[in-house]
Amino acid sequence: MGDFHTPVLLNESIDYLITNKSGIYFDGTLGFGGHSSKILETINDDGLLVSTDVDLDAFNYSKSKFGNIKNMKLYNFNFSKIKIISKLESIKAFNGIFADLGISSHQIDDPASGFTFRKEAELDLRMDKTIRLTAAELINTFTEDEISNIFYKYGEEKNSRKIAKRICEKRKIKPITTTTILAGIISEIVPERFLTKTLSRVFQSLRIYINKELDVLKTFLDDSIDLLSEGGRIVILTYHSLEDRIVKEKFKYEQLKCVCPKEYPVCSCNKTQKLKIITKKPVYPTANELSINRRARSAKLRAAVRI
Ligand SMILES: C[S@@+](CC[C@H](N)C(=O)[O-])C[C@H]1O[C@@H](n2cnc3c(N)ncnc32)[C@H](O)[C@@H]1O
Repeated sequence: MGDFHTPVLLNESIDYLITNKSGIYFDGTLGFGGHSSKILETINDDGLLVSTDVDLDAFNYSKSKFGNIKNMKLYNFNFSKIKIISKLESIKAFNGIFADLGISSHQIDDPASGFTFRKEAELDLRMDKTIRLTAAELINTFTEDEISNIFYKYGEEKNSRKIAKRICEKRKIKPITTTTILAGIISEIVPERFLTKTLSRVFQSLRIYINKELDVLKTFLDDSIDLLSEGGRIVILTYHSLEDRIVKEKFKYEQLKCVCPKEYPVCSCNKTQKLKIITKKPVYPTANELSINRRARSAKLRAAVRI
């Protein structure tokens, strides 16, 4: 397992998530099973774990690893389908819902996944290969403005206009079909010392757009909160500010009892408080964890309990 992905904030995640060892838990980002394994170790035989991953490789790997475990159910669904999964399993409520967002080290390291700009691969970036739009199609057919907006909105890339302009000039000569062709074009206009960060932001923005990651996260949070039993916990690990902001704002909103304007004498919004935040500040990996797992460096854990 360690060959594929070292789980981040593992003990912290489990400590926040599990309050009832006979409870029902959901891991929306099964990956190579790091967190799922620990959940299974912690719950007892009466407990149940339902885990899903949208990536077929990760799902197949984990199916061969966990396939025979009686108190675990596995799905190759997007976690935004948590409602459907709960219906299929006749589950009314979960005691804990977990997600470790983003992609695994395996997806980053495996050129065939096409998520890395460091290795030659088809410009793809789809986690779910049934999605129609690939990064290559986007880069070769979207307008300069559309491409620039994607880099800016989902990568917070300041040179978005300059990079999009160069891409559109270059694609007239030859289609941009691989990760290394795209990285090469960007390297022509970005100084060496900023290159890795720029490439990370550009690839992140394409990945978020292609997989609709922010919309999917919002749907997942909405439905998950409604599917938590009273006292049940939601624990989310994020790796960049866009997804962290969505989790933080959603938790804050669901903690409010009322959203009426201040000048209203009586409440008329009918809002109810659904969550209580239990991590006032996000939890970060310790120095020790960071020293053994560089990929943990941008991780933040937020947790809340269902009221
Ligand atoms: C950071 S890895 C999780 C690693 C896992 N916790 C472990 O320790 O092995 C994220 C995983 O979530 C999957 N994923 C990302 N977005 C998803 C989504 N919307 N629905 C289901 N799986 C998703 C990715 O394919 C990837 O395998």
